[in-house]
Amino acid sequence: MEVMTDQSSAPAQDAARRDGFASRVGFVLSAAGSAIGLGNIWRFPYMAGEGGGAAFVLVYILFVLLLGFPVMMAEFSIGQATRRGAVQSFEVLAPGTRWSWVGRLGVSAGYAILAFYSAVAGWALGYLEKSVSGAFASPISADASGELFSSFIASPVTSIPAAALIIALSAAVVFKGVGRGIERASFVLMPIFFLLLLGLAVHSLMLPGAGDGLRFLFKPDLSKLTVPIVMSALGQAFFSLSIGMGVMVTYGSYLNRRETGLAPLALSSVAADTGVALLAGLIIFPAIFTAGMKPAGGPGLAFVTLPTIFSTLPMGSLIATAFYALLVIAALTSIVSMIELIAADLVDRKGWTRGRAVLLIAGVGFLLGIPCALSFGGSAFFTRFFGVPDGFFGLLNIAFGNLVMVLGGLFICLFVGWKWGMPQALKVLGIAEGKKLGVLLSFSIRWLCPAAIAAVLIFIVITGKFF
Ligand code: PFF
Repeated sequence: MEVMTDQSSAPAQDAARRDGFASRVGFVLSAAGSAIGLGNIWRFPYMAGEGGGAAFVLVYILFVLLLGFPVMMAEFSIGQATRRGAVQSFEVLAPGTRWSWVGRLGVSAGYAILAFYSAVAGWALGYLEKSVSGAFASPISADASGELFSSFIASPVTSIPAAALIIALSAAVVFKGVGRGIERASFVLMPIFFLLLLGLAVHSLMLPGAGDGLRFLFKPDLSKLTVPIVMSALGQAFFSLSIGMGVMVTYGSYLNRRETGLAPLALSSVAADTGVALLAGLIIFPAIFTAGMKPAGGPGLAFVTLPTIFSTLPMGSLIATAFYALLVIAALTSIVSMIELIAADLVDRKGWTRGRAVLLIAGVGFLLGIPCALSFGGSAFFTRFFGVPDGFFGLLNIAFGNLVMVLGGLFICLFVGWKWGMPQALKVLGIAEGKKLGVLLSFSIRWLCPAAIAAVLIFIVITGKFF
């Protein structure tokens, strides 16, 4: 791949050796592949269900547009300017300062999220196997489904190997590199994903409870809005877009240097991610209302409530198989991006080979994943883990999946808006400073994002409530 360098980046021969995306479409599919994941299909519907539906959805969409899109652009601009991983990018743009700790925070979050996320992906893989082997072919009650789920996640014999298999598959993709691994895998997996998603949504919209499902998702009752719901919508926006930890810095660093119009790329990724979350809602809520169940099913929504519903539907096994295949595919392309975030850092900054980096990351991710998989009854210690809900798993989920990502987003905005400077960032992004988009981005990155995130953090400190 041909690349050009300028004085702000590392030596030319270094940059020329660097792997990269071969096309804009491949880049968008990969960035969207990172963003679209368990966050959209597992986490978004249960958070929307708990948050009262449309009111949560409305606030979520506002955060995605007003904060998420600008932060993603900020990350792309850093990566595109330096063509380096998450830590070294800050070292290149602000040498001799402590800003590189923002990158280090993101890389550590990568390990932690990899660990708990692959545990959930392992559940999806287990449920895919159950669906294929006909476990949901005949009606099962909500209680029986709950018991099936609890005993499945409590058993280390199945949950640990399932998580290991997911990590191994994702590591194999990253090992092949950005163009030949991540981009190619995204080209194959994302279209399959969209087909499954659309098929399932069409099916759900033909169910008798579709009208209630649609009203629940799209007819906001703003009186339901509380401060914790607003906060959880913000955390979910960052988690879902994979922003605030350097994944998008890393992906941006693999863009062809001559690419300038980055706004459409970010906008497509953000739109795809939000569209998939809404479609996941359209799949789940009509089914829930048709079955006369409650939308506030919590984290078990995709694993307890849905199998009960699938088991009563015509062609239920097929639908369940499609749904859990969807979850596994979505999880794979997201896990790939977590591994790439760390691998790029080890390769760029430490000069490691890709193979060595990927082996180490997969090993650490697997080891950290064991206590996560044991947090649901497999081990009393990790299940209770100092009283945190959902044990060790819950701790990583809350601390890194929400708090660190939002904190990272704050620091990235402060860095781009106030340290490196908006004029430089906008130049890299190919946006004129005086144009509407430039003015809006500057306002959001310099003022709106820091103020909104600071408000969240102050709220957390005051109430002690983590979302
Ligand atoms: N955005 C992913 C999802 O919605 O499932 C989760 C994620 C991917 C978080 C990559 C962090 C990350 F680095």
